Amino acid sequence: MVIVENITKEFNGRKVLDNLSIEIRDGEIITIIGKSGIGKSVLLKSIVGLLRPEKGRIFIDDIPLVGENIYLLRRKIGFIFQKSALIESLNVGENIGLALKYIRNMPAEEIRNRVIDALRKVELDPKVMELFPSNLSGGMLKRAAIARAIILNPQYILYDEPTTGLDPIVSRTIEELIINLNRKMKITSIIVTHDLNSAVGISDRIAMLSGGKITFLGSTSDFMNSSNRDIIEFRSSYYLKTGE
Ligand SMILES: Nc1ncnc2c1ncn2[C@@H]1O[C@H](COP(=O)(O)OP(=O)(O)OP(=O)(O)O)[C@@H](O)[C@H]1O
Ligand SMILES: [Mg+2]
Repeated sequence: MVIVENITKEFNGRKVLDNLSIEIRDGEIITIIGKSGIGKSVLLKSIVGLLRPEKGRIFIDDIPLVGENIYLLRRKIGFIFQKSALIESLNVGENIGLALKYIRNMPAEEIRNRVIDALRKVELDPKVMELFPSNLSGGMLKRAAIARAIILNPQYILYDEPTTGLDPIVSRTIEELIINLNRKMKITSIIVTHDLNSAVGISDRIAMLSGGKITFLGSTSDFMNSSNRDIIEFRSSYYLKTGE
């Protein structure tokens, strides 16, 4: 379980997260939605310890995310960055196996087997390991980034905009993969997106980030039926933009 307790994160004196609290339950898929620039990525990066809030506390499985704990807790978490962030000069296999080589110090043959296993789990052909990131389509890049995250058997995966920039059909296949990993590997999944359709399609719960706080948290159907002002505004601007 992740407990975020009253965190405040400022940049240049401006509060992006303002006394924000949220609890993430084990095994769930929770999506955090909100307008562009509202602080979704800042919240995810805070949960993984890449950004340090000025105030408040974060607990992962009851352990506070501070000091040395950060490095231990990070091992439980896979992070899929908004930009897929594979290293261009390494092939896909080397990218996916990087952590096993440098963090776990594993022999090459075992790394190779684990990379193949991770590629299978994200439904990529093992041959893809020889390709370079620049040769992959957007959807394949996302899958490779997910493979790199799951190779360390994380308990949590944090996805920052996993479907943004992908066409609707590829987006749906990535959503199915996220659901599969959550159900089969029991990975608690925290997703950040501004894609309403995607949020509604895959989440157990949806949270709305607005004005530095979580202004709504509930089931997908609660979300669709909510008369919360932020949600009504978000839903209508989304439908205007997408024409759905
Ligand atoms: N390292 C940083 N230094 C200064 N300001 C930052 C930093 N990271 C984020 N910000 C600011 O914090 C605010 C929230 O940024 P964030 O990236 O979390 O938005 P977001 O909700 O993820 O947006 P998007 O949907 O466009 O990805 C923005 O105003 C951004 O400029
Ligand atoms: Mg972002």
